[in-house]
Amino acid sequence: MNIDELSAVAKAIVAEQKGILAADESGPTIKKRFDAIKLECSEENRRRYREILFTTACVEAHLGGVILYDETLRQSSTDGKPFAELLAQRGIIPGIKVDGGAKPLALHAGEKITEGLDGLRERLLEYRQLGARFAKWRAVIEIDQLDLPSTYGIRANAHALARYAALCQEAGIVPIVEPEVLMDGSHSLERCEAVTSQVLEIVFAELDAHRVAFEGMLLKPNMVIAGLKCAQQADMQQVAAATMRCLARYVPAAVPGIVFLSGGQSAQDATAHLNAMNQLGSHPWQVSFSYGRALQAPVLAAWKGLEQNVAEAQKTFFRRCHLNGLARIGKYHSAMEVTPP
Ligand code: 13P
Repeated sequence: MNIDELSAVAKAIVAEQKGILAADESGPTIKKRFDAIKLECSEENRRRYREILFTTACVEAHLGGVILYDETLRQSSTDGKPFAELLAQRGIIPGIKVDGGAKPLALHAGEKITEGLDGLRERLLEYRQLGARFAKWRAVIEIDQLDLPSTYGIRANAHALARYAALCQEAGIVPIVEPEVLMDGSHSLERCEAVTSQVLEIVFAELDAHRVAFEGMLLKPNMVIAGLKCAQQADMQQVAAATMRCLARYVPAAVPGIVFLSGGQSAQDATAHLNAMNQLGSHPWQVSFSYGRALQAPVLAAWKGLEQNVAEAQKTFFRRCHLNGLARIGKYHSAMEVTPP
């Protein structure tokens, strides 16, 4: 492991006004997104859609990295350039989702464990040869009203995240460590903060025990937010304050960047929350984004699978990247949603 190299890659991904596009939807997930615009989920449509994203002009100003899915890393643009090469030539670092998805955790009703460690060392070597310089592994933690998540459920997921992260660093790949506390449910913001705190504390203890270098990784957490079905929703400032308080307590300053997931928030909310956090002043780590839905939902709605809509879809994509780039430095304003900056 060369910590300086890993650290340089991690820092480049979260350079000023930059974040990550999560375009690593698995087959079933991208099918759900295409179903919503009544588009057949064929390999060519998936390729074309990702090509539209990756060839959008000027997005390199706001994207330090793009997370790909296995199939996408092996695909090329219409004129035959592998996507990883196309992105790298634009100064956007290619990454790869390496987890095998969250499955039910045995004897723990309602909880999940992420699979994919078997054979990971070999897969990472191949992914590096194909051009990936960072990876992602997502653990899923669900909150219910009573006793979930269990401490064991959190520990099992933290252990898998740490084993994954250590294997990545061994292979010269920057791990993005993603323990996602889901927004589903009716829990309060306070309960989300308590669970997120416990999760982060255990995750960093496991990473440390596995000798993961914090300088050569990125953390992809949820924001601290009330459950979608909670009657009392917090405002932007409350979310920003609770999230930064929680992360300041549990995330070592050596970690170069926090890259939030959007988790089902609207595109506007995800941008506004990121902006509010960056307006709170300077933090020990870069406070950035690694959005899937919050960057792509408006693009899919504009594209609708039709070639005549490609220009509009790319305009929409650049706009969301640009607005999140402004949120990275606390210079976004909701008025920009109607009047372009
Ligand atoms: P969302 O921003 O849609 O939550 O996706 C981010 C991601 O990569 C989840 O693993």
